[in-house]
Amino acid sequence: MDKIVIEGGRPLAGTVRASGAKNAALPLMAATLVAPGSHVLHNVPDLRDTRTMLRLLETLGASCERQGTIVRIDTTSLTGAEAPYELVKTMRASVLVLGPLIARTGYARVSLPGGCAIGARPIDYHLRGFEQLGVITTLAEGYVEASVDTVLKGNVVYFDTPSVTGTENLITASVLCRGTTVIKNAAREPEVGNLIDMLNAMGADIEGRDSDRLTVRGVERLRPVETEIIPDRIEVGTFLIAAAATGGEVTVAGCVPGHLPALIEKLRSTGVDIGETGDSLTVRRKDAGAGGRPALKSVDIRTMPYPGFPTDLQAQFMALMTQADGVSVIHETIFENRFMHVAELRRLGAEIKVDGSAAIVTGRRREELCGAPVMATDLRASASLVIAGLSVPGTTEISRVYHLERGYENMVDKLRELGAAIRTEREENQAGAT
Ligand code: EPZ
Repeated sequence: MDKIVIEGGRPLAGTVRASGAKNAALPLMAATLVAPGSHVLHNVPDLRDTRTMLRLLETLGASCERQGTIVRIDTTSLTGAEAPYELVKTMRASVLVLGPLIARTGYARVSLPGGCAIGARPIDYHLRGFEQLGVITTLAEGYVEASVDTVLKGNVVYFDTPSVTGTENLITASVLCRGTTVIKNAAREPEVGNLIDMLNAMGADIEGRDSDRLTVRGVERLRPVETEIIPDRIEVGTFLIAAAATGGEVTVAGCVPGHLPALIEKLRSTGVDIGETGDSLTVRRKDAGAGGRPALKSVDIRTMPYPGFPTDLQAQFMALMTQADGVSVIHETIFENRFMHVAELRRLGAEIKVDGSAAIVTGRRREELCGAPVMATDLRASASLVIAGLSVPGTTEISRVYHLERGYENMVDKLRELGAAIRTEREENQAGAT
């Protein structure tokens, strides 16, 4: 297992290019199961999670190959419909094969994903939605078994809260239904739109993209497709926040500025400059003139479904607020346990109090914070610790970096290109807190 070692306090400067979105690649790779044939996906990031999804598709009988960022997936002949525990326990998003398998074969057996560091993360909305379409679901031995006795019939599906993968699973399950399915209170994330575009290119008939009400008219069959994964807005946001935290000037190229409305507004409220072009965003921390960096203004955030502030950027923004001038209140409304990074940020000197779903961050001057050994607990908490380590003086060592490799392609290399003093090292002692 590796660790990341950072000599902090250096401003980032330069240009970095966004990779394809993990949370679009996973549903789109799974959706290739709906149509037999050879699919080609462009701009697929090479991550631990996308490698896991390829392995899962191969266990189902697909043949997959990667050439750079192009992934070819041939789903002509499936040999199975079971997603084994060994794979699902390493990646919850394996549940995304449920919808496509139900549509293609009328049967699926997927290990029930356990909880994870950030919450229980049930899939009850997915299962209730499938049942609305005529699917029989049973839970046995830690597996969800979904089967269709007669035919899948279109129906109305309502989500209590907008679930991203729930919406994606119901879209892929309903595209071959007899009749029309209406999905109400659907998630509106750009990654859902990417999936809708792909399925419509395959011959599906889905209306309502980007809205909370989707209409899916069932069709007879779908054809294989060549399509592109959208840029990763969470990676882009992570780099923009890192640039604001360290000072300097960073451009993230190859992104979609319109996918980050809430973050851009909140970063501007802290006082940093943000420039936009058609496919790039530049963060510049205004020079303070003599005597060092201007103070960042404290800003409150409340995580919400898209287009609200993304929960996947909450930990990163908190790292920024630890050095702001004042008190920032951060409400996490999506997941019940997404403050695991707080204890680690405190090790760097941050002043943070947690009260239920709110974290109250009292900003401190950079000089009052200091690097220290910390431990990553989940993917976005890892990114938060990297941002904190980059921006405080001293050495920060982050252990358990496999979390980071799940969702960020070549993050260490990209940060080094921006001038960060960052490297990975073999971790001697595998112990650490259990
Ligand atoms: C997706 O997870 C993302 N993952 C998450 O990104 C992201 O944080 C999350 O959406 C919210 O934006 C992928 O797209 C692969 P939800 P998902 O269903 O779909 C509750 C990352 O860091 N809920 O939108 O699992 C749930 O507990 C990851 O890249 C139910 O109660 O999230 C949560 O409170 C982390 N029952 C809320 O809804 C259900 O059946 C939203 O969850 C489903 C969800």
